Amino acid sequence: MSESVTIPSTTTAPIATIASLSQHEGQTITLRGWLYNLRASGKLLFPIFRDGTGTIQGIVPKAAVPEEVFNTLKELTLESSVIVTGKVRADSRAPSGYELDVENVEVLQKVSAETPFPITLKEHGVDFLMEHRHLWLRTPRQSAILRVRATIMRAAAEYFDTNGFIRTDPPILTPNACEGTSELFEMDYFDNDKAYLTQSGQLYVEATALALGKVYSFGPTFRAEKSKTRRHLTEFWMVEPEVAHLELNGLLDLAEAFITHIVTAVLTHHRADLKVIGKDITKLEAVLAPESSSKTEAASSAASTVEAGGFSPLNTPATTAGFSPGPSSSIPNKFPRLTYDEAHAMLEKAYAEGKIEAPHKYGDDFGSPDETYISSQFDKPVMIHRYPAAIKAFYMQPDPQDPTKALCVDVLAPEGYGEIIGGSQRVDSYDLLKQRIEDHNLPLEAFQWYLDLRKYGSVPHAGFGMGIERVVAWLCGLDHVRETIPFARTLNRIYP
Ligand code: 4AD
Ligand code: MG
Repeated sequence: MSESVTIPSTTTAPIATIASLSQHEGQTITLRGWLYNLRASGKLLFPIFRDGTGTIQGIVPKAAVPEEVFNTLKELTLESSVIVTGKVRADSRAPSGYELDVENVEVLQKVSAETPFPITLKEHGVDFLMEHRHLWLRTPRQSAILRVRATIMRAAAEYFDTNGFIRTDPPILTPNACEGTSELFEMDYFDNDKAYLTQSGQLYVEATALALGKVYSFGPTFRAEKSKTRRHLTEFWMVEPEVAHLELNGLLDLAEAFITHIVTAVLTHHRADLKVIGKDITKLEAVLAPESSSKTEAASSAASTVEAGGFSPLNTPATTAGFSPGPSSSIPNKFPRLTYDEAHAMLEKAYAEGKIEAPHKYGDDFGSPDETYISSQFDKPVMIHRYPAAIKAFYMQPDPQDPTKALCVDVLAPEGYGEIIGGSQRVDSYDLLKQRIEDHNLPLEAFQWYLDLRKYGSVPHAGFGMGIERVVAWLCGLDHVRETIPFARTLNRIYP
């Protein structure tokens, strides 16, 4: 049994947060938080407090505080809620740069010693931690990840809000599929009707783009795919820009500028958090570095096979590394851009040299090891465009120079974090789109409204979707997306 919450007596010292202690050096302040850890060494106590903004170590010599305060702290259990008064002292050895000379502590609720906080500093298995996710979130690393996530989401919205995009919200309950019919969560929708949880807002944001010009959506999406990988959630957050009069080159520029903005925001605001998480910051700095990004000879030679006669409309003219900017753009074009064919050639060469285990079959999608190899050749995200149309969605515009290819792009994160963005130019011809819907055995009636967009003032348009959790995994260096969202929904877990 736990004791009930005590109403604290009023403390006169100003209330501060741990993150703002630098503004209070030498002052006595009040922190409202929890006991994160406690070490005792003879007549000295070293409690560590957390308050959601960070952690700080307190120093409590027995002789310096009233006996009652010393005894209260000595008996205090982990995660008990407290109001602590103390003097902020700079200490270069402390991780935060400060320590607290504790003067007083008021306990709001003491966690019962019979039911101690289940998560301790010792190693726990992932299943145990996920089962206690509601409490695991309190640990410094998990809190830091959630702060970075919040910045990624804010930066994503901010990029579009400040670049003339109108946020429009597609429905979550939909009558049909967008990406593929097998992956939908189905539910009853009144009188014998079915509804599905959205797997992408794209078709709807195409409609709002043709109404408003430049739009984006930002919301939860759902996929019932039975994949048990490190990169798949059944519920995740996607941000989806869609732009009228935009073609593939412009879409690549947009994706690059957008990712650059997000990485910049995270590096600006979260160096300390990234350190707690254990992310190598130099890897993120390399994404923003101005120089060309081909790390190895393999990367340059894959590009030169293309110069030797391959088809690569975006290579105009080649940079030193062989990758080229899109035409007439204001974007620095630092991210390498490869066609599917170039990426395939790179994998063929890697296989021949024994650098990857399995050959990549031309015409197939890239597997996880393929993507990891390709991304390992560069410091920056890699944009692979013009995949075979046969393995891509029905709504993608064929490349006029080679209609077996789609005007699409997948952006692969560096360091093997896999695909973070998928997008394309959309089919803008009514007849072709109708044909595609039929070829894919999709119900024509359900797509009548979508076809209307090609009947009434059709224009070239393009957009992409970026999964927030994949980006959090990359920027925080997490090997599984389950830690990127407060409560992950996966094939095997829907609790807590
Ligand atoms: O590549 P996807 O399937 O593209 C679409 O849904 C398009 N309709 C988007 C558009 O053009 N507006 O998904 C887009 C991104 C992926 O690149 C990935 O980052 C993320 O969504 N994603 C997932 N993230 C976590 N768990 C999953 N199961 C995901 N599936 C896709
Ligand atoms: Mg995709």
